[in-house]
Amino acid sequence: MFFGQKIHPLNFDTADTLTVAGDRIELSGPGVRLWVECADVFEGCLRLRFENAAVTDPRQHSDAVLPEWREGRPVAARLNAETAAFATAVGRVELGAARLWLELAGFTLETVAEGIGGCGEALLLNFAIEAVDGCYGFGERTKRLNKLGDSADCLTVDVVSVFRHTYARDDYDPSYVAIPFAILKKGERFLGLFFDNPGWAVMDAGKARPGEFGYQSLGGNTDVYALAGPSLPEVTRRYAALTGRGPLPPLWALGYHQCRWGYQYEAEFLELAAQFAAVDVPVSALWYDIDYMDEYRLFTWDRVDFPDPAALNRDLKAVGIRAVTIIDPGVKREPGYAVYDSGREDKAFCQTVSGREYVGKVWPGDTVFPDFTLESVRDWWAGWLADFLRAGAVDGVWLDMNDPATGHSRTEEMRFQHGAIPHDRYHNQYAHFMAMASRAACDRLDPDGRPFLLTRSACAGTQRYSAVWTGDNASNWRHLRMALPCSLNLSLSGVAFNGPDVGGFMDDANAELLVRWHQACGLFPFFRDHSIRHSRPQEPWQFGPEPLAAMRGAIRTRYHLLPYLYQCFFAHWRDGDPVIRPLLYHYSGPEYVDLDDQYLLGDALLVAPVLHGEGQGPEIVRAGVKMQERPVRLPPGWWFDLNRGDWVEGGRVMMYAAALDELPLFARDGAVLPYYAGPLQNSFMDLYAVELHLFCRERPARFDYFLDDRESRRYQFDDYGIARIMAEADGERLRVEIAETSDYPRDTVTFMPVLYGCPATRELELTVNGRTVTRLLQTSQREWLCREWAVRA
Ligand code: GLC
Repeated sequence: MFFGQKIHPLNFDTADTLTVAGDRIELSGPGVRLWVECADVFEGCLRLRFENAAVTDPRQHSDAVLPEWREGRPVAARLNAETAAFATAVGRVELGAARLWLELAGFTLETVAEGIGGCGEALLLNFAIEAVDGCYGFGERTKRLNKLGDSADCLTVDVVSVFRHTYARDDYDPSYVAIPFAILKKGERFLGLFFDNPGWAVMDAGKARPGEFGYQSLGGNTDVYALAGPSLPEVTRRYAALTGRGPLPPLWALGYHQCRWGYQYEAEFLELAAQFAAVDVPVSALWYDIDYMDEYRLFTWDRVDFPDPAALNRDLKAVGIRAVTIIDPGVKREPGYAVYDSGREDKAFCQTVSGREYVGKVWPGDTVFPDFTLESVRDWWAGWLADFLRAGAVDGVWLDMNDPATGHSRTEEMRFQHGAIPHDRYHNQYAHFMAMASRAACDRLDPDGRPFLLTRSACAGTQRYSAVWTGDNASNWRHLRMALPCSLNLSLSGVAFNGPDVGGFMDDANAELLVRWHQACGLFPFFRDHSIRHSRPQEPWQFGPEPLAAMRGAIRTRYHLLPYLYQCFFAHWRDGDPVIRPLLYHYSGPEYVDLDDQYLLGDALLVAPVLHGEGQGPEIVRAGVKMQERPVRLPPGWWFDLNRGDWVEGGRVMMYAAALDELPLFARDGAVLPYYAGPLQNSFMDLYAVELHLFCRERPARFDYFLDDRESRRYQFDDYGIARIMAEADGERLRVEIAETSDYPRDTVTFMPVLYGCPATRELELTVNGRTVTRLLQTSQREWLCREWAVRA
């Protein structure tokens, strides 16, 4: 089968008889027998389990859903005439022999006639979506945010090797990540559908047949989870509750990361650290790509190029720079190499159907692959990885080639659990189980710490173990533009901690592209500059002083806003809201349905980056400075323009001109942006004193600030507090009230208010936990983000 090909709906058999079979309903007809079970999972989430008699292995091999939700409470059916009706706590389902109808939080969805079918092991569910006006999620995808009219293969692939000649375009599919989750929008109402089947599946949102949403799984059984809205945040939160919310990362992982395939020697790393210091750009981590290894042998260092990696990494850490190493799954097949020998002895590697070790061809040549689906192998791996991280003083783990990439060797012969389970049951989950095993290694090193892992491939639920980057993109404007919808849809699909290779991986960047990329993604959850070997180097200083200054501005802005970003991660962990969001997450109206060239960080900051270069779009020259123009859609209400220092009224589209060093950035009226104003020294950041940048023109500003130790896992056991912040500018007086709730120790953070855009306000009345002081506001200093117009307390 080629990518994008589907089984024609007319090749499916549909049932004509519906009968009750215990807790299940049986749908049968010539050529097809399906059983359907309906279960209540949690409030707003119900499951329809579709079992197909033709499926040879009926077990659910997916690890997507959290264990506590896997059982569900079966709902008994009421049979009337030819349908079975289920009334669940949250909605209603009606099932006919070849037809399904459901209603959840006011969203109704129905299959087309003969919309349920079987073709061998394959299952078809075909829904009528004429009234649907938007479709989102789908995991990591190219093209636009709204997937209506598009289709997606759910199969993880090593994109560049599969799309060797077309990787630089913006329309390849599938990608490295397979998440069969779709969010349908009908007017103001949303509904989520998660198709839990780990095998190859296709979702078609009206591309093959306009007006129909077709889901086809090619093998195995499928659990369909319906997630209620009515709003988009409700659907997103429910999906995150079902598959797991991302744990809090360490603060350093939210800083700027520098990577390149080609950093080869110890001296280069020291030189990089010195360069960052010399150009006054903070950096929180330097990354080791495959060249650090001894001939690509896992868990080794090339001791000629890196004589003492632990000492090097400790030296870097002493100046606030963490070390992250790439870890591929493939083990060099070389008798005498300790990792291979021990894995062979433990039967840790995937096998062919007859029990031979499955062999692929990756960087080390002939390569074998740990079978991470086995707990014993995860333990084996965790042991090796933990030893490696400890011995080399490595802080973070970069999981690559886990799609899995097997080079010229077909992947299908790779089987799991000693050859017993065919490839397709775990193909899409290979990276997931690798991430699980790798996180376990970090847990061994520091059971109370917060590991940082990044993976290329992922499936539903992988966010519990690792952040995701969107793989090998290219240094061109199309891929910069695509980075926004791609990361936004991935964010809506449960993976809040994600981002692209900034600057583009393949091909050469240029100064303007690199600057705009740093600005556009400088407020993304994950922020790493990465490029392929032999391409034009793209560290921030490579293109001269003007681009460097612009990138410095973007990177420093991120560091200043790290307290806000961290709060967004905290909110994600607690509630499931993504860190970056399409505008449609908070604003309704047809104008937001396709809007994907601007985004929100949290709910308060609107980012509208310039996504075209000189000569490619509207531009003007103002006071001798060349500026690129773009339309910015501001939702209703007042917005504070953080470049110009003015309030602008929203509810309209404005043309915005931005010089090379400007990122169009707007704070919403009523916003509080927690801000770090201390010195920027790489990952060193003391958040005991935090400024509260306040935007309260017509609306009082409010924010719930989570207080925790930012280091341990104690937050997971409710060991955190909340500071409820309220601020109001009332003529001459700014009133700020901060009240810490819960048993968490008081006053662990000192908050300092900074007021924007209220020139008449001169006095501050600050109440912290019931104690009030009144004093005059002082004029602040100028910063890239907050210029003279801010008044500092
Ligand atoms: C893969 C990764 C890329 C990495 C390269 C070499 O292409 O996606 O990020 O630099 O392998 O390890």
